[in-house]
Amino acid sequence: MPAQIEPFHAMAISRLAHQLKAEGRSIIHMEFGQPSTGAPQAAITRAHEVLDTDGMGYFDSIPLKTRLAQHYRDSYNVTVTPDQFILTCGASPALVLALSSTFSPKDRIALARPGYVAYRNVLKALDLVPVEIACGSETRFQLTAAQIAALNPAPAGVIIASPANPTGTIIDAAELQAIVTVCRERGIQIISDEIYHGLSYASPAHSILEFEPEALVINSFSKFFSMVGWRLGWLLTSRSHAARASAFAGNMFLTAPTLSQHAALVALDSQDELRSHVKVYAENRRLLLAALPSLGLNAIAPPDGAFYIYANIAHLTDDSLQFCETLLRDTGVATAPGIDFDPVDGKHFFRISFAASTDQILDAIARLKPWFAKISP
Ligand SMILES: Cc1ncc(COP(=O)(O)O)c(C=O)c1O
Repeated sequence: MPAQIEPFHAMAISRLAHQLKAEGRSIIHMEFGQPSTGAPQAAITRAHEVLDTDGMGYFDSIPLKTRLAQHYRDSYNVTVTPDQFILTCGASPALVLALSSTFSPKDRIALARPGYVAYRNVLKALDLVPVEIACGSETRFQLTAAQIAALNPAPAGVIIASPANPTGTIIDAAELQAIVTVCRERGIQIISDEIYHGLSYASPAHSILEFEPEALVINSFSKFFSMVGWRLGWLLTSRSHAARASAFAGNMFLTAPTLSQHAALVALDSQDELRSHVKVYAENRRLLLAALPSLGLNAIAPPDGAFYIYANIAHLTDDSLQFCETLLRDTGVATAPGIDFDPVDGKHFFRISFAASTDQILDAIARLKPWFAKISP
């Protein structure tokens, strides 16, 4: 029997939000982490040109991989070669590819709880065993080297994410180095999800490749590059793993979308426009952080990056899904229940995405204030 996989409960909230909208209600979508902005203008222009001139067969863009290699040199001072990149339909298949080409069935893979819902579920689907480590506010909801060192027996792999979903917290350079040291000593393969790189509000996040060239990195054009629906991402393999991962990718997925590869090449050079989005998220974050205490939400993870706030609502509910549904029905503000990210403690948390426009964030705050005042003890 294949593994039993939990649904993504935020989808149910989103469906309800769309239903309420169809009934005429005004809805603010804060349940998913997707930019409200579209692809960079130059990428859209390039896509139009390609549509008019290219038959669009299977395509595996060497210029894009070469440009990505330069991106790693510029951003992290890391040298990688174009053949280490495997282009995928977003970070989601890059995760499947990294796991399936690296581990054997029943291998144990450590990960933080709370964490992105797909890690746990994809591991189960691939007959791997998630070893979820409870990470609370004392570790800023992130895995630490000490926690990995304490696992007995050592897992075959570990998934880290910095900035993380649902918390936005970042693992600093010293801790990344310590994680690498422990994983080398114990023979643990690191998979690093760097999809929220580019979206940080203090200092930029470090890539694991600055410390460990044997780590596997997944990333995507969905978040910083604002190209969710273009479905394009990458697995950056180590040199030793590149041929094996590429054989898996060719058989499992063939190639990534041709149009998106052409557009993404241009998006990589649209930094000014993309950075202007980050300014909007920074302002949204500032407004929400200022407003949360007046909602009685004082226990939150410090959102160093990404566009999420993960807030403790234990004083208000033991059922985060019901909480998010009532919040949506009463105010029109859609959010994600903590149970998506943490099957144990997530009943006491909800996640707010601030990837919306600043006007929407202001509107949401105005709706949330009286609602929380009404329900707060
Ligand atoms: C942490 C994390 N990793 C991976 C993904 C998958 O993104 P995509 O497949 O759109 O690149 C997401 C999506 O929200 C995410 O939050």
